[in-house]
Amino acid sequence: MTTPSHLTARRASALTGVVSAPGDKSMSHRALILGAMATGVTDIDGLLEGDDVLATARAVEAFGAGVERLGQGRWRVTGHGGFRQPAGVIDCGNAGTGVRLLMGAAAGYPITVTFDGDASLRKRPMKRVTGPLARMGARFEWLGEEDRLPLTLTGGGLSAIDHVQSVASAQIKSAILLAGLNANGVTTVAEPEPSRDHTERMLCAFGAEVGVLPDGAGWRVTLTGGQPLTATPVSVPGDPSSAAFPLAAALIIPGSQVTVESVMLNPLRTGLFETWREMGADLTVANRRMAGGEEVGDVTARHSALTGVVVPPDRAASMIDEYPILAATAAFASGATVMRGIGEMRVKESDRIALMAAGLQACGVAVEEEPEGFTVTGGPVRGGATVITHGDHRIAMSHLILGLAAAEQVTVDEPGMIATSFPGFVELMRGLGGDIASA
Ligand code: S3P
Repeated sequence: MTTPSHLTARRASALTGVVSAPGDKSMSHRALILGAMATGVTDIDGLLEGDDVLATARAVEAFGAGVERLGQGRWRVTGHGGFRQPAGVIDCGNAGTGVRLLMGAAAGYPITVTFDGDASLRKRPMKRVTGPLARMGARFEWLGEEDRLPLTLTGGGLSAIDHVQSVASAQIKSAILLAGLNANGVTTVAEPEPSRDHTERMLCAFGAEVGVLPDGAGWRVTLTGGQPLTATPVSVPGDPSSAAFPLAAALIIPGSQVTVESVMLNPLRTGLFETWREMGADLTVANRRMAGGEEVGDVTARHSALTGVVVPPDRAASMIDEYPILAATAAFASGATVMRGIGEMRVKESDRIALMAAGLQACGVAVEEEPEGFTVTGGPVRGGATVITHGDHRIAMSHLILGLAAAEQVTVDEPGMIATSFPGFVELMRGLGGDIASA
């Protein structure tokens, strides 16, 4: 099937149905990487088969692990207790999580590796990870511009560090912890606010001991180097960041009711659900249970009269990828939704503050942009625009959801990038009654 150059969403009547979200992207990257660092056979089910994760699967194979697809979402990784020298360049595609975690893991081994990515990944800052890894003893050579891919890393002979992060970032924390596994001494990472803890949880599942101590508003994570990892089965639950899109559509399209089953409910990932509830969303969770070491549940959203809120900045880490879809739903709320303390959004797959502001304004929504945030004032949404996504999957999906409830159709460019995190997004939304088609 050829990928269309544009997709268009048209106003839909009520959406109804029960669907499953694709596997969690953060956990999928980690399952592959830890499986490759461990000794033995790690069977994974529910793996997200999106382009970002497939790039990580190819990478760990290049680092010497056995990687086999057993069926839909079912993968087997055979680890040999560490990474080996790869033959070629490790191309991480669009995936910031993939490249940063892989750099951390690779830094612990005596190998020399060149990392690269697509045009978007080549624009994203890498010193936030290479800086601490260099302090541990890894060596880096920038092959193009400083602070950007491509770069060559030479690992091995690491010493533990105490790292204090200025921003809560699970990618930085995870890179340091993965390097710390093969460093001499006790590695410590302190965060101003807790960021997603999938690496810590999964390291424990693979047999490592990880310490977590409260530290002001944040926490301090410690890990002693030299701990071996033992393969273990990993079950990946549904991604709350992907579930957000069909749920958002239900909230803003009159008469809708949509359930997304088996959504991961780790509290460090559910800031959006909390915010929507504060806005008046009818959002309920049923069938809470444990799966793959995480709490999961079936989340139902019904059309709701939303009211704007001020999102507490200290909630940012638990919903950093969800501000685009929050902004799209805020466009239908009465009053202003104020989102601040989210400067990190400017260094994601795109400058998400700038692109959401531009896209919403093109659709007739009142948006005020600030250096570290934006305010969206809701009302009837006109739509009627073609939105530039700069190849950012979440910018594309957020505007398509908006288009399902706007008066006039909304078109996005580069929709092929949606497959990085949510393959099957268009089919899933059509199955619920959404009108999304190639333009
Ligand atoms: C991720 C962490 C977040 C998030 C990204 C996934 C992870 O990035 O934006 O999509 O899996 O660790 P930061 O840690 O840089 O905030």
